[in-house]
Amino acid sequence: MSSRVALITGSSRGIGKAIALALAADGCQIAVNYYESGQADAEVNASNLRDAEAVAGEIEALGSKAVVLGADVSSSQSAQELVDQTVKVLGQIDILVNNAGINRDNLLLRISDEEWDQVLKTNLNAAFYCSRAAVKHMVRKRYGRIVSISSVVGVGGNAGQAHYAASKSGLLGFTYSLAKEYGRRGITANVVAPGYIQSDMTARLNAEQTARIADNIVLGRLGTPEDVAGVVAFLVSSRADYLTGQLLRVDGGLGGL
Ligand SMILES: NC(=O)c1ccc[n+]([C@@H]2O[C@H](COP(=O)([O-])OP(=O)(O)OC[C@H]3O[C@@H](n4cnc5c(N)ncnc54)[C@H](O)[C@@H]3O)[C@@H](O)[C@H]2O)c1
Repeated sequence: MSSRVALITGSSRGIGKAIALALAADGCQIAVNYYESGQADAEVNASNLRDAEAVAGEIEALGSKAVVLGADVSSSQSAQELVDQTVKVLGQIDILVNNAGINRDNLLLRISDEEWDQVLKTNLNAAFYCSRAAVKHMVRKRYGRIVSISSVVGVGGNAGQAHYAASKSGLLGFTYSLAKEYGRRGITANVVAPGYIQSDMTARLNAEQTARIADNIVLGRLGTPEDVAGVVAFLVSSRADYLTGQLLRVDGGLGGL
């Protein structure tokens, strides 16, 4: 994969970071994107930039090229610029991983219009904006690999996450349509649905909640970002050339088999 260029949205930490490092280890050049949805706080974004730069450092230590690009993918214009910048700096875009995501857990009756819009824009609109911009380049080369990070919640729903679940379900239909529309142009589109993965997103769970969740997982533990990254690395590799329009659950057997 040494000639491949990959853009991973939201790759300053967590699952996105692990995907960036896994693809870099396989020889890809990486565009590391970061931004904090809904955070006007300069310090939060500065710390996110430091994280992204550290990821780029790790990629370079692996012998691959990296570029750090701050961009709010929930904005159509910023997402377009992010893809344009990737192509400008790294010369092309072969792989897009729609990973950036947020949750704003709340009961339906308490979800404000703003919260709904923010979650849908960051988790679903962003995949549309980035994929539209990337596919334009991919069709010219008749090659592209798009992976979107959904969630098991997008498959089965979850109390307190109606907006998050709606955004993650949306990624399924979006991916299946992309797969059908661009299969004959050499572009595959697949979706990965992680279960409970240790990251900032699940850091709020206390020990008792974590133990209760683990009890309900066949493999008996929460997943790691690397558990998800390995599956994404497979999906964008030549080993998965004949695989498109698929949903892969990476959940350790959550809820039984
Ligand atoms: N952690 C889990 O248990 C879990 C389970 C299922 C699915 N997921 C999904 O995996 C993905 C990664 O989650 P994580 O657990 O690593 O979360 P995280 O909070 O650790 O990381 C989120 C990343 O997204 C970036 N980001 C947020 N808003 C952005 C925006 N508007 N533009 C660009 N980047 C933005 C952040 O900079 C960060 O790099 C998300 O889509 C999440 O919904 C996570």
